[in-house]
Amino acid sequence: MEQAVSKEEIRQLVLEARREGKRVALVPTMGALHEGHLSLVRAAQARADLVVVSIFVNPTQFGPSEDFEAYPRDLARDLALLSAEGVDAAFTPGTEAMYAPDAQVTVDPGPLGDVWEGASRPGHFRGVCTIVAKLFALVAPDLAFFGEKDYQQLVIVKRMVADLDFPVKVVGCPIVREYDGLAMSSRNAYLSAEERAAATVLYRALREAETLVCGGETSVEYVEQAMRDTVEAEPLASLDYAALIDPHTLVRAAGAGGARAIIAARVGATRLIDNMAMPSA
Ligand code: PAF
Repeated sequence: MEQAVSKEEIRQLVLEARREGKRVALVPTMGALHEGHLSLVRAAQARADLVVVSIFVNPTQFGPSEDFEAYPRDLARDLALLSAEGVDAAFTPGTEAMYAPDAQVTVDPGPLGDVWEGASRPGHFRGVCTIVAKLFALVAPDLAFFGEKDYQQLVIVKRMVADLDFPVKVVGCPIVREYDGLAMSSRNAYLSAEERAAATVLYRALREAETLVCGGETSVEYVEQAMRDTVEAEPLASLDYAALIDPHTLVRAAGAGGARAIIAARVGATRLIDNMAMPSA
């Protein structure tokens, strides 16, 4: 596996692949890789000739009181995992390579960036859009792979690509879960054993919503209340939001069938998110 650290190195590497007529895929990550990331890598390998995985803990998508400093980092382990998967290239820039000290221009995510995660984490999606746009500019991929676990991020990145005419196809990949339903996330590493057991409450709430909708429930309010009740019954969890939304516009759904159920809660000090497609009406 090749490793590019500078912008020049990654540009050169991709240029050479393009000269050979290769189809290029990008899997953007912040490292602390797990099976969810590796599923993106495998999806990329199935559709491209050169797979680039970027590892960059992006400071601009963390709020001042968030976990940027504590975010898990283990580059040697991540590179070994990617190499074992047969990844072609890892792009691992430092912060100074990605952000000039006098950088000023950012990418505005628009109204989709103000709701749900954006309301709880002001500025988060501006940081995400800015770094993803920069990675697209540097790697110029034909395809880019994102997990559905960060559902709002996926919708916003697709919107950015459409609105700003990036010549890349964004591919969303299914959530990968632990044996008990907990969605894989780098932040799961923060959980104590007790919190880890309690953290399944997000999945349990989503399954409760799915069961209700499967059984014919159409009321958005009723299903949302059932999700809230599930989380409130878990003493270690505190709910941020539980909602049924339109899967494209992210506004509150008109009916439960076909909606996307989204949930965010703190388990102990760790903020977790998850989501699930509801069956069609
Ligand atoms: O989903 C992530 O890990 C990050 O938000 C991303 C897309 C790599 C941008 O920093």
